[in-house]
Amino acid sequence: MTKCDLIIHGANQLLTCASNGKPKRLAEMRNVGLIENGAVAVKDGVIIAVGDSDVILRGFEAAKVIDATGKTVSPGFVECHTHIVYAGNRLNEFELKIKGAEYLEILAGGGGIISTVRQTREASLADLIEQSAKRLDKMLALGTTTCEIKTGYGLDTVTELKMLEAIFELDKTHAVDVIPTFLPAHAVPPEYAEVQSSKSKVQCRSDEYVELICNEMLPQAAKIKNQKPKNKDQFFVDVFCEKNAFDLEQSRRVLETAKKLGFKLKAHVDEFTNLGAARMAIELGATSIDHLDKISDDEIRLLADSDTIGVVTPTVNFNFGSHEFADARKLIDAGCAVAVSTDYNPGSAPCPSLPAAMSIACRYQKLLPSEAFNAATINAAFAVGAGEKIGSLEVGKQADILIFDTGDYRQIAYEFGGNLINQVLKNGSVVI
Ligand code: NIG
Ligand code: FE
Repeated sequence: MTKCDLIIHGANQLLTCASNGKPKRLAEMRNVGLIENGAVAVKDGVIIAVGDSDVILRGFEAAKVIDATGKTVSPGFVECHTHIVYAGNRLNEFELKIKGAEYLEILAGGGGIISTVRQTREASLADLIEQSAKRLDKMLALGTTTCEIKTGYGLDTVTELKMLEAIFELDKTHAVDVIPTFLPAHAVPPEYAEVQSSKSKVQCRSDEYVELICNEMLPQAAKIKNQKPKNKDQFFVDVFCEKNAFDLEQSRRVLETAKKLGFKLKAHVDEFTNLGAARMAIELGATSIDHLDKISDDEIRLLADSDTIGVVTPTVNFNFGSHEFADARKLIDAGCAVAVSTDYNPGSAPCPSLPAAMSIACRYQKLLPSEAFNAATINAAFAVGAGEKIGSLEVGKQADILIFDTGDYRQIAYEFGGNLINQVLKNGSVVI
């Protein structure tokens, strides 16, 4: 008998989402690695065996045993795209949108992201951490065990670095593992947005802000990155390439500078307008490109042939009351590795629930529950560059495990508005 710390056994369904070290594509996305009467054994926070309960119980002896009879066991959800460090709220805009205002219209009028920037600049570090930790609490209770978090509500050096500090502090103090993304190119800050007209030309000062990002903000963030321990080497730079935000050349300049400084890359592309950023980001080797509502067929083929993960955020469209969604069905059928995210943020998606995102993806983007599950676990892990460590129940991986109050995993996307979580384990310890 091999001694270990924990055995979970008797699961009606255990989903491994195992992928042999690669993100899932095509038919593999429909394979959740389902084991009936499944069990998992854990030692020192790491999975040491997965398989049939009778076999595991014969071979292993544990200090703690959890009987998961009648339940579903799965890897922890990986949330690969959020903006949850911010102060205040956007409840007024919720009402404006209900009355018909458009997202980009609100942004152009100095609201939207900019209204959150004002509130975030004013908040103290302690306040930011406290408000954001509550959002992580909600996510953990819904099964998220790793969460990427972006800056982007500072848009000046001091506040962007304050946001980074909040993100690192959350990683240290919260049960959820946090992956940092630096996003100073999220919107043009109010001090750079005014238009200066001379006799012959009208010039927006967004280019100047891009220079500030490249010459000051990214180098300072790189210093912080280089002080981080080797096992914490996931650190991304992202950009919002969109009308009224950053154009293709500005986005390229930011991402190329970030790449030279050793950051991994992400990009918000094709959310409202196709500016050609999908191709640009894929060619720069971005780990993920996110949103993809307006991606072209040529770009879909390029994505399918690349290692870049395509992240869809159906909660955003739902939140806008839209009936149009990124065509995730087409992306999967073309061979793209697709992940799903809530994009949890105060404006376009105030949603902490990955199961809710999966529910919407199934209904409006025509993903099967199996595809939605892989998209929120193993493929999302690859979208944050951590596919070797998390996202599936495989020997050697971190023991981030969910136990659901249902015997059939399909119910997790079938039900919406509830929470089927029974227990959450992080590194082999029960945290919920
Ligand atoms: O992913 N698109 C840009 N950023 C966010 C929205 C952030 C906000 O509205 O505060 C997004 O949708
Ligand atoms: Fe976003």
